[in-house]
Amino acid sequence: MAGNKRKASVDAAEMDIGPGTDLRTTPSAIGRPNPGRPNPGRPHPPPAGVTADGYFRRLYETEPDFKQLAKHDSRLAALLHNDGQLDFSNPAATMQLTKTLLELDFGLTLELPDDRLCPPVPNRHNYILWLKDLMDTTSYEPPGRKLCGLDVGTGASCIYPLLGAAQRPWNFVATDIDTRNLSYAKTNIKLNGLEERIRLLERKPEDPLVPLDEASIQCIDFVMMNPPFYTSEDDMLSSAQKKARPPLSACTGAPVEMVCEGGEVAHVGRLIGESLVLRDRIQWYTSMLGKLTSLEALIGQLREKGIDNYAVTEFVQGSKTRRWALGWSFGPMRPAEHVARGMKASIWRKILPLPVTMQLLMIPAEKPINPVISRIRDIVGSLELMSWTWHPETSSGLGRTGENVWSRAWRRRKLREQDGEGPNRGCTTPAAEAEECRLGFEITVAVGKSEAAVSLRWREGHDPLIFESLGGFLQRKLKDFLSDE
Ligand SMILES: C[S@@+](CC[C@H](N)C(=O)[O-])C[C@H]1O[C@@H](n2cnc3c(N)ncnc32)[C@H](O)[C@@H]1O
Repeated sequence: MAGNKRKASVDAAEMDIGPGTDLRTTPSAIGRPNPGRPNPGRPHPPPAGVTADGYFRRLYETEPDFKQLAKHDSRLAALLHNDGQLDFSNPAATMQLTKTLLELDFGLTLELPDDRLCPPVPNRHNYILWLKDLMDTTSYEPPGRKLCGLDVGTGASCIYPLLGAAQRPWNFVATDIDTRNLSYAKTNIKLNGLEERIRLLERKPEDPLVPLDEASIQCIDFVMMNPPFYTSEDDMLSSAQKKARPPLSACTGAPVEMVCEGGEVAHVGRLIGESLVLRDRIQWYTSMLGKLTSLEALIGQLREKGIDNYAVTEFVQGSKTRRWALGWSFGPMRPAEHVARGMKASIWRKILPLPVTMQLLMIPAEKPINPVISRIRDIVGSLELMSWTWHPETSSGLGRTGENVWSRAWRRRKLREQDGEGPNRGCTTPAAEAEECRLGFEITVAVGKSEAAVSLRWREGHDPLIFESLGGFLQRKLKDFLSDE
C-alpha cells in the first residue's frame, strides 16, 4: 500500500544524520535510555497487561501525588512542605520535581542550570503524546514505527528528544542558538546514553529554523518546537512578577529562550514560511503555543496559503495551565478526528480543520452484524478502486481510489467506452492504473452494547467533496439494504 509510505520517512529514519553517527535503534533501547537505573516509583517497564503506550498515556491523567513521589526520592522529600505541597515559586522545588518525574516515570536523568528554563514534565509529555497520535494516524503502517524528528530550540534539558526517544524508536536532530543550553543538552544526551539517537546542531538566530540542507538531511518525519513566547523582556519580567516568581531563573527562563521579536506568532510564522519552500520534505510541521490568539492568527495564515491539512489541539494540565499545539502538512494523510480537532468547546469549530469521520449507519443490537459486513464488502468490492482490503480481525476495510468510481457520471462514461465511444474507445482503463490516489478511506464496524456503528474515515487526500460523496453513496446503499431485509 502506498499512501504516506513516502521515501521521506524511510530516508529519515534510516539515515545516518551525523558524521559517523548511526541513528538506527533497536526496540530494546526504547523506554530504557539508561538501563540499570533504579526505577522505584512507578513501574517501568509497565506491568503485565499494560502496553508501553498505555502506561505513558495514563501517567499524568491525574495530578502527580507529591507525597507519594517523595517516598521514592529523598531530594524531593527535603523540599516538600508539611501539608504535602511544593512551593512552585521556589526554583529549586520546580527543578527537583522535573528531575524526579523524569527519573521515576521515564528512567531519565537530567542536569539543569539554575538560569535556564526548567520544563514542566506533564506539559512537555502532552506534546509527545499528541505527536505520537499525529504520526500514527497519518500512516498506513502499524503504530509505533521508526521516525526521525527535529526539535527546534531544544533548551538545556533537551526534553522533547529525551521523552520521545524514551517512548518510541524515534531519532532526533535538536537545535538551539544558546551555547549554555547546547552544552547542558549535550550533557543530558550523554547522561542518558542517547548519543547515537540525538544529534545536536548549533544555530544562529538569523539561520533558518529547519536546517535540513545544512545537516545534509533529505527528509524528516516531523518538526516540533516550543517557541520563545514573549515579545519583549518587559513582557517576560512583568509576567514573572504576576506569578510571584524570581525573574531570570529556571522558572521563567532567560531572555534568549523566552523572548523574540514578534513573539510566538512571528516565530511560528517563520516556520510556516520555511515550510512553504520545504513542503513535503517534512511530513508534519508542528509547534506548541502559549496563547489562543496566536493559534487563531496562525490558522489564518495557513488558510491564506491554501494549507488544508492541519491539526489543532489543546493541552490542559491542572486547573491553571492551558497550552495549544498546531500542526500542518503538505502530504495527503489526514489525522484522526481527536488529533486534528482536539479542542472541545463548540466555539472553536470555526478554526478547526474539516471533520474526517462520517457515521454511515447505526445497527440495533438485535440485528445480526455479519450480513451488514458482507454487504459492505460487496458494495465496495464491486467498485473499480485502486485497492480495497478487508481486515476481519478489526472489522474494518481500507480502500484507495484515483477518482469517483461510484458516481453515475463515471458509470455512464464507462458504458460509453465499452460501446466504443469516447477517448478510450473499446478499452477500459483499470482504475488501478490511475496515477494518484485522490481518496484513501477506512470503513469500520464497531460493535457496542446497545448497537453497532458503521463509520467512514477519510484517511488520505485533499478533496473533501469526494470523501463526502463516497459517504453519501454508502449511506444510501446501506439504508436500502437494511430496509430490504
Ligand atoms: C521556550 S524555550 C523551549 C526549550 C525546550 N524546548 C522546552 O520546551 O523546555 C525556546 C528555545 O528556543 C531556543 N531558540 C530561540 N531562537 C531559536 C532559533 N532561531 N533557532 C533555534 N533555537 C532557538 C532558545 O534558546 C530556547 O532554548
